[in-house]
Amino acid sequence: MVKAYAITADAVAAERARVNDDLDKVDIARVVRLDTVELPEVGPTDVHLRILAVSAEHNLAHAALADTVNIAELRGGKIFPGNSAVGEVVAVGREVTRFKPGDIALTHCNGEPDRFGYPLKIWAYDQPESIGWYGEEAVVGEWQLIPAPMDCGLNFWEIAALPLRAPTAYHLWRRALGIYRVKVSREHQAELNVLGFGGGVSELFLMLAKHEGHNAFFCSGSPERREALEKLGITPIDQKAFNRFADRGDIKAFNGEAKKLTGGVGMHIVCDMLRGPVFPAGIACSARQGVNVSAGWQLSKAINYDSAGMSVKQLTLDHTHYDTLVGCAAATELYGKVFKPTIHREIYAFEDLPRAIHEMHANTQTGIPIIQVASSLPASVAAIAP
Ligand SMILES: NC(=O)c1ccc[n+]([C@@H]2O[C@H](COP(=O)([O-])OP(=O)(O)OC[C@H]3O[C@@H](n4cnc5c(N)ncnc54)[C@H](OP(=O)(O)O)[C@@H]3O)[C@@H](O)[C@H]2O)c1
Repeated sequence: MVKAYAITADAVAAERARVNDDLDKVDIARVVRLDTVELPEVGPTDVHLRILAVSAEHNLAHAALADTVNIAELRGGKIFPGNSAVGEVVAVGREVTRFKPGDIALTHCNGEPDRFGYPLKIWAYDQPESIGWYGEEAVVGEWQLIPAPMDCGLNFWEIAALPLRAPTAYHLWRRALGIYRVKVSREHQAELNVLGFGGGVSELFLMLAKHEGHNAFFCSGSPERREALEKLGITPIDQKAFNRFADRGDIKAFNGEAKKLTGGVGMHIVCDMLRGPVFPAGIACSARQGVNVSAGWQLSKAINYDSAGMSVKQLTLDHTHYDTLVGCAAATELYGKVFKPTIHREIYAFEDLPRAIHEMHANTQTGIPIIQVASSLPASVAAIAP
């Protein structure tokens, strides 16, 4: 038995009752609770991991709020969440070839690939029987692990920020660019205007765009995150100057600013991730033939749009999810070279994980939240863990 965080349908119901179903008042820290889980036997193709660090992810907030689906209830009353981790290999099954004890590995969260590799289900969320990695130890299939690029130039906390967000950004970027290129070839136009709205995935998306020579714009309410991206040559736009698009006047003003920044052209590619009021703002500032791509629905699950207007401008909406296994490995090659994530200033202790999720949901963090799970780190990791 090891300690691991769980979300139960009972805890979700109790918290909803406490706040009279007002989701704005839910305290996620009361729903995400420390529990114990029995580790399965290490099978021939399994790897036994000691979890060193994890990043906090929004699907945990969705699970605790039950705002999209009540996943704890659907999974039989309890889930053990956590689908992004860095761990030290403790033991391996007899058929494991890519890892040995002492290696440092990243997890990915593609729970069940379809025949083209895209996830049908997400590990530790809707994949049946899956046990997540917000715990002290885990037993995972070798197929779920990628060797950690310890010499990529990032520090350990930065590496821990990426296993879920980097593959998502990598998938979003190659899809968005590929779709744009179906409509407008490189022969006609080399340089694109690319916009991302606040959030870790969008930041990584913009790093890809910038790295490939495009003009990148980051529209966020966080001065710390805008400043971090500006240092990489990504133009900041203060989302709060446009009241987070509370009404049509704000969207019009934002569109004016986006057009001013792009010589009247607008954004060829927009990474949304949030939906809600962000969606119409992203559509308004799109250039002709633009592509609007998202893998998230943090502010709203549903969107409305003017189909005729989209046709006239030849706009395309694309919806992605987490990456394929091959895509996850390829995204890992770009750690440090392209992906330089912003990290929240506090590295949380394991017992503070519920607070980390609560603060992420309250949007008070200055970067991606990281939780140190193991109280002691192996020497190779400690050397790059400031
Ligand atoms: N499908 C997938 O595989 C996948 C993978 C990863 C993430 N996601 C989803 O994508 C979404 C974003 O994830 P992330 O990891 O990038 O999140 P993140 O790093 O925590 O960033 C979320 C951002 O949301 C912005 N925000 C919060 N409240 C807002 C509001 N009221 N109006 C406008 N912006 C607001 C904040 O930006 P500012 O305050 O800086 O503006 C914050 O930085 C989540 O819903 C997550 O579940 C999906």
